[in-house]
Parts: sequence; C-alpha cells; structure tokens
Amino acid sequence: MSGNVTCRLGVLVSGSGTNLQAIIDRIEAGDISAEIACVISNNADAYAISRASLHGIPVIVNENARFSDRRSYDAATVEILQRHKVDLVILAGYMRILTDVMVNAFPNAIMNIHPALLPSFPGLHAQQQAIDYGVRYSGCTVHFVDCGTDTGPIILQSVVPVEQDDTEETLSVRIQKAEHQIFASAIKYFVEGKIKIDGRKVRISE
Ligand code: GAR
Repeated sequence: MSGNVTCRLGVLVSGSGTNLQAIIDRIEAGDISAEIACVISNNADAYAISRASLHGIPVIVNENARFSDRRSYDAATVEILQRHKVDLVILAGYMRILTDVMVNAFPNAIMNIHPALLPSFPGLHAQQQAIDYGVRYSGCTVHFVDCGTDTGPIILQSVVPVEQDDTEETLSVRIQKAEHQIFASAIKYFVEGKIKIDGRKVRISE
C-alpha cells in the first residue's frame, strides 16, 4: 500500500481496546494515512465497541458462540472484512487463533500484537509466563499472522523491564504502553509501503 490510496483497516477486538484507541489517535492526528473501515468484536461486552462507536467507526459484533466450528466463524469474519473492502487486518487484543480461512484470505496482511518478546512466551498469559520464568526483560511483538500460534514473521519488538514485584497486572500495564507505540508504527510502515517480507525476515525501509 503506498501513494495516495488510503489503506482500509479492519480491526478485530475482544476486550478493552486500548490498542484500538492508540491506532485511532494516531490516525486522527494525521500520522497514519489510513481509515478504519470496521471494527469486529467476537465479544458483545468488549469496551472496544464503545471506543469505536465514539469515533463513528462501524462496529460489527460477530459472536463466535453462534458458530459450530472455527472455520465457519472465520468465513463469516472474512465476508464482513471483504464487504468493507479491508486491505489490512489488525488483531488488537483479539483472543482467538485464526484458521487457514482467515490467513489465506489476507496473505501477509494480518498483524497481531503479542505481549511478550516472541518466540518466548507465545499463547495466553504471556506476561505471567514471563514472571514465572524469571526473565528480567520482556516486552511486546508485532508480527504477521500465519496459521501457527504467534509464529508469523516479526515486524517490530519493544523491550520492557520486568520488576521484582511485578504482578501480571502491573507488567501488562507497562507492556501495553510499548504496544501502543509499536503497533501504530508497524501499521504506518505497512501503509507507506515500507515493509517487505523475505521468508521469515521482515525488512523495513526508512
Ligand atoms: C494486549 O495486551 C495484547 O497484547 C493482548 O491483549 C491485550 C489487549 O489489550 N493480546 C494477546 O494476548 C493476544 N494473544 P487491549 O484490548 O486494551 O488492546
């Protein structure tokens, strides 16, 4: 994506939506030349829904409980994203593993934020995993999504110290501050056509 064409983002959420908010703020500040075409939540109670609505962004609640299997749920999500002509899919605290149906519909065009320095601590409760392991530093990772769990090519990472008395909650708050920076920056690089994928390696031209 480059030039004068505005990149259309589809943001998938499940919870509070602080990453969504950071992306909205960077777009509204004129720093990222993109438009959020739709926000899709698999959770009807997600606070992210209110954040999107406040900014006039179309929100679709697509509850996974209504579907018998993950692939048919993802097919419904793909249909919504395509109807909104989405170029780049953003998983902003979306607590579901994608199937091949989603991954193949948006090749190299799905980004996820993970609250650890991958490949360490993939999956759920990454902050607690880091505390339990005793690492001095953890952080966050923006990566492209493939069919594995947090295994796709890494775009940006940010290192965050783990303090001796950290709880999952206190470490999460510190990591989220870094998430908000690097997620928006990765989207900006994509929108400006500065990202190239070479096997597992992501090259960013400045
Ligand atoms: C973020 O910390 C993100 O890294 C994490 O969920 C949180 C969502 O916060 N995502 C995952 O753990 C994905 N496996 P938010 O709703 O306030 O953006």
